Order: sequence, then C-alpha cells, then structure tokens
Amino acid sequence: MKTITDTIKERRSVRKYTTEMPGDDLIESVLDAGRWAPSGLNNQPWKFLVVKDPERKSALAGLTKYARVIDSAPVAVCVFLDQDVSYNREKDIMAVGACVQNMLLAAYSLGLGTCWLGEILNKKDEVASYLKVPSDCELMAVITLGYPAGEPEKGSRRSLDSFLVRF
Ligand SMILES: Cc1cc2nc3c(=O)[nH]c(=O)nc-3n(C[C@H](O)[C@H](O)[C@H](O)COP(=O)(O)O)c2cc1C
Repeated sequence: MKTITDTIKERRSVRKYTTEMPGDDLIESVLDAGRWAPSGLNNQPWKFLVVKDPERKSALAGLTKYARVIDSAPVAVCVFLDQDVSYNREKDIMAVGACVQNMLLAAYSLGLGTCWLGEILNKKDEVASYLKVPSDCELMAVITLGYPAGEPEKGSRRSLDSFLVRF
C-alpha cells in the first residue's frame, strides 16, 4: 500500500486526458477529500462547481491561455473562496489551497489526473459572470479532472537544503 508521502511525491500535473468521463462517485470522492481540509476556526471557506457540460467547459477554456488543458479534460472543477464565511482573507485563501491539494492527492490515489489552473484567475470576473456564480464566491482555482492520457511530465524540485533558512 502506498504511503501518503509516496502519493505526494508521485502526483504530477496532467495536461492531457482520455475522453472517458470519471463516474460521479469518483468526482464526489475528490470533492469530499477537499471538504476535509483544515481551515482557520474550521470555517471551511470553499465552494465547488463541477463543470462537465461541453459548452460551458469550452467557454471556461476560452478564458485562459491553458485552454488546451480544459478542452482535453472531461471535467473542470471551479473552486471558490466563500466570502460569506471568510474571517481572514490570508488564512482563508491558505485553507482553500489546502482544500485544492487534498483534491489533487485524492484524485491521484483514485487513478485520476488533475491540473491546478491559476492563470485563469486573470479572468475571474468573466468566469463568474459567465457561470453566474453568486457574488460571495470568488474564484481561486480551476482543477481539471480525468483519466491521464499517456505519461505525465517528470517532476522536479529544488533540494531540501535550498529551502532551509539559516540565521
Ligand atoms: C497556484 C498554482 C497555479 C497553477 N497554475 C497553472 C496554470 O495556470 N496552468 C498550468 O498548466 N499549470 C498550473 N499549475 C501547475 C504547476 O505548473 C505545477 O504544479 C508545477 O509545475 C509542478 O509540477 P507538478 O504539479 O507536476 O509537480 C499551477 C499550480 C499552482 C499550485
């Protein structure tokens, strides 16, 4: 059985997908993992919108230079900051980041691929108006979801030593 550390290290961004639609049970498991992320005061400041409809997904794709990633994936999950329950913007955005990472790891452990898309935030107002999201929802990320087509790129990170601060 894989350890969580193996899962963390092996997960890679997937930018090419097969056309197979993941089952609703799998999509729900991924969202559910997001729901279990930690948050300040346990305020759970996230909202999810699952976009599967090809027309809506294609419109979403048209709002980022990473259109090809969204076009390739059968599912795009919009992740919002729920400003209704937000108490501290910095901490709440960090909590949404933890929520997104939970979903990426859960998806990987279920055999699904994901890519965390941030560039689309440049057009977050256009996304909100096209999807008619409530005004208290602020787009934080779009996660593409589906079965990987082929092998993802090799991962790389700087050495641990380079991240250690010495005084
Ligand atoms: C906040 C954030 C924003 C990102 N935005 C994009 C994006 O807009 N397009 C994209 O292709 N990848 C995006 N990525 C994925 C990164 O490029 C990727 O995680 C990084 O290169 C490390 O590769 P790995 O995920 O395969 O380990 C984003 C990742 C994060 C955490």
